Amino acid sequence: MKPSQLLMTAASALLLTFPLCARKAPRAHAKSATLAQTPPMGWNSWNHFAGKIDAKTVREIADAMVSSGMKAAGYTYINIDDTWEAGRDAQGNIQANDKFPNMKALAAYVHKKGLKLGIYSSPGPQTCAKYEGSYQHEQQDADTYAKWGIDYLKYDYCSAGKTIGWVKQPMIDSYKKMADDLKATHRPIVFSLCQYGGFNVWQWGDSIGGNLWRTTGDINDTWNRMAHLGFDLQLGLDPYAGPGHWNDPDMLEIGNGHMTDTEYRTHMSLWAILAAPLLAGNDLRHMSKATMAVLENRDVIAVDQDALGREGYPIARYKDGQPLNVDVVTPLDRRSKEKVGGGDDQEVWIRPLAHNQVAVGLFNRSSEPAKISVEWKQFGMGGTLHARDLWAHKNLGAFKDGYSATVPGHGVVLLRVWK
Ligand code: GLA
Repeated sequence: MKPSQLLMTAASALLLTFPLCARKAPRAHAKSATLAQTPPMGWNSWNHFAGKIDAKTVREIADAMVSSGMKAAGYTYINIDDTWEAGRDAQGNIQANDKFPNMKALAAYVHKKGLKLGIYSSPGPQTCAKYEGSYQHEQQDADTYAKWGIDYLKYDYCSAGKTIGWVKQPMIDSYKKMADDLKATHRPIVFSLCQYGGFNVWQWGDSIGGNLWRTTGDINDTWNRMAHLGFDLQLGLDPYAGPGHWNDPDMLEIGNGHMTDTEYRTHMSLWAILAAPLLAGNDLRHMSKATMAVLENRDVIAVDQDALGREGYPIARYKDGQPLNVDVVTPLDRRSKEKVGGGDDQEVWIRPLAHNQVAVGLFNRSSEPAKISVEWKQFGMGGTLHARDLWAHKNLGAFKDGYSATVPGHGVVLLRVWK
């Protein structure tokens, strides 16, 4: 059967039924978090600029965050990634290098715009790009960040693999130490763990004080990598996300130029379904209208930022027009296969939202257009539901039993549905 002929039958729908109520409840979280009550939104320098980032560019990005409408759409954090560090002074205080002559003044500039400033370090002696890390200077660095007015820290394991070791408990301890040291500053600083999903970080990241944790290795600006991280490697992690503590499938590549607008819409939609942090990774100073329309889609952002704080999950998968059992491939199977691109053609994901609403993503991973259908009973809702198309920005009307759409190759139809 050609993908274009794909039509899910009622029988296969029944086979794949996976009601909302049968889902494992999200875990209660350990701290009374006030930070990151919804997934952090902002920008990070790494995906576009890598080492070519400096204070002047960061100021211009902050300007563009406001003038482009990104701030009004909810983006807040301006995060400096790797390569800002120099060495330490005689007292061991971390110094910024020549690219960042005055971090405190930079933070003040960013704050004046109503935005927040983030920074980056490592529990090891060196960062991934071989700049100074926080090893044995954790409290001193946390104090320096607080003094500068920093609001967010991404803490990247890297060289700690050689000093502390790629060993579970010492790794956990190194993250807990920085979390405690940040807390001791009494400045609210979002704490982002970056150790690529090692030792099931989602099981302990929250309890040691993390607000978000990377679940995978690095994203890049390709369909295969983005799709693999988003569709394959987040499976089974949804019970671990919630207000104050989020799974992080890595930063956005939208607008960096190597995917199509259709693929970027899929990237944005999937990250919203995943309750993922939305950290733009492009040059905000030079955005096309199409890029802005993707990043600033308020309907999709509202899904990402939904107050219920539940992460979404797939309810159906198809290969060659045939339904696959959604539970046959366990998250561990998927995670251990570093195979690019996944094996499915189409996937239907849902995310439970506040006020008994649901986001439904009809995702087409194949390169040909395909008809994808969903029946409301597949996620435990019956009868007639109203649907809004979140990319067309249009209420579609009321639909009895379900909805079908022809979805372009690598594309998505993203709906919000309600009774
Ligand atoms: C690692 C991280 C990236 C980025 C770079 C910087 O690869 O996963 O997100 O921070 O280091 O060197």
